[in-house]
Amino acid sequence: MFDNIDQLLTEVSSFTSKGKEDTEQFRLRFNGKKGILNDLFEKFKEVPNEQKKEYGQRINTLKQAVAAKLEELKSATEITGAQEKEDLTRPGFPLETGTRHPINIVRNRINEIFRSIGFAVAEGPEIEDDWHNFSALNMPEYHPARDMQDTFFIEQNPDVLLRTHTSSVQIRYMENNEPPIRILAPGRVFRNEAVSARSHCIFHQVEGLYIDENVSFADLKQTIQYFTTELFGKSKIRMRPSYFPFTEPSAEVDVYWGLNSETDYRITKGTGWLEIMGCGMVDPSVLQNVNIDPEKYSGYAFGMGIERIVMLLYQIGDIRMFFENDKRMLEQFKSI
Ligand code: DAH
Repeated sequence: MFDNIDQLLTEVSSFTSKGKEDTEQFRLRFNGKKGILNDLFEKFKEVPNEQKKEYGQRINTLKQAVAAKLEELKSATEITGAQEKEDLTRPGFPLETGTRHPINIVRNRINEIFRSIGFAVAEGPEIEDDWHNFSALNMPEYHPARDMQDTFFIEQNPDVLLRTHTSSVQIRYMENNEPPIRILAPGRVFRNEAVSARSHCIFHQVEGLYIDENVSFADLKQTIQYFTTELFGKSKIRMRPSYFPFTEPSAEVDVYWGLNSETDYRITKGTGWLEIMGCGMVDPSVLQNVNIDPEKYSGYAFGMGIERIVMLLYQIGDIRMFFENDKRMLEQFKSI
């Protein structure tokens, strides 16, 4: 009888596990309800009295050995657990790649085009003050041109507002840098306007500014022509006289889109022409506002909305789609 217990003791101490299953089998064999230990305790009654003491000690030793072994196996799997659970031959999880937002795709493309001709990218804050958004741009208080851009004010303070255009970045940059200046300022702008399929209270613009000696309107025109050729593959443009408080003369630029398809008819309203930006020669009084000598320097500026261009390039019919972040829409730009 004691031999049997000794044998079991050896078995327990020499047991090695091949894994979780194996350990569980071992546990059930010794510690299970119908396991060896219970069985041995059960037999205690049958043991002759004079042997009871030794029997009791032996089975207690065995019980402790089993407990110690299980503890050892448990800590071993905890250490190597990760490896044991992992099947290293299993194929990996597919990594879902994100997509660039179409607005960013086009913004990056515009940045690249202008970078290739020497424009640096500049940024300014979205929360602006009156000076940078309006006054320095030749729109003093009560100037009627302020009505062209309905403004969000913050906490009723007329000097804390969400910028209505990226032209504010022109002022910030000129205040802090000497000519020659050649910058592109892409960014988000805000206007207190009703949201519809064609307009949104939040949108994006790109501002351009070039200040140097002897900059002329011809420089402006050829730069824009280069830009439209690169972005749209269309080099025919026209400039219509327009008005902006911060440029003189001012113009709006139309690209000749053509009338080759139904879509061309629709997007150009049958004219073949499409308006894409405002521009002009920086007004001398704007230069004065930022302490640049208008006798020595001149320059041009331009500004355009990004959403409209994206809608045009990718045939997107509703501006609100840009802000919904619907994955079904965004995933379509994966390969671009
Ligand atoms: N800031 C103008 C707007 O939001 C766009 C603009 C027009 C910018 C002419 C310019 C410019 O720099 O020269 O409507």
